[in-house]
Amino acid sequence: MNELEAKQLVQEKLPEKRFAHSLRVAETAVLMARLFKADEKKCHLAGLLHDYCKYDDLNDMHEIVKENSLDDELQLYTSAILHGPIAAFLIEKEFNIHDEEILLAIKNHTSGRADMNLVEKIIFVADYIEPARTTPGVEDIRDIVYNDHDLERAVFEITRRNICYLAEQGVKIYSETFKCYNYYN
Ligand SMILES: [Fe+2]
Ligand SMILES: [Fe+2]
Repeated sequence: MNELEAKQLVQEKLPEKRFAHSLRVAETAVLMARLFKADEKKCHLAGLLHDYCKYDDLNDMHEIVKENSLDDELQLYTSAILHGPIAAFLIEKEFNIHDEEILLAIKNHTSGRADMNLVEKIIFVADYIEPARTTPGVEDIRDIVYNDHDLERAVFEITRRNICYLAEQGVKIYSETFKCYNYYN
């Protein structure tokens, strides 16, 4: 699949705002690829596709987890966590994309995990810092990336903030997020 095809598929499937976000993540990921010497094409494609399943039906996603023996723990979560692993699964199957770096970047873009590959780290961070994000403290993360050039510290800071936020909400936290936090600590 080339980039134009991917862009069209994402545009057809996602609402306009989420499509615009996907384009910004792809562009941010390319900037970061130049900074951290990653494959620009892979980063762009993973950025475009990362939210492909963001609005898929939750029951359907749980069904896919069950039928294909994906991580059982995923049954405990909503789309917020599921849309990454489901997108990686469907994109490999339906679009014939088998690049492991791209698939892992899509799969883990929300939760993170221990020992991520370079494209994976870039998408994880690009999703958080794309220019339209206004999360309090996002400037600190942009600073760590664009001034300090410290990708792993950005991954850690985002994970730390996500865990604090989720714990404050009193919701379940996917175990891969804790593994990510400990690995990059
Ligand atoms: Fe997402
Ligand atoms: Fe996203």
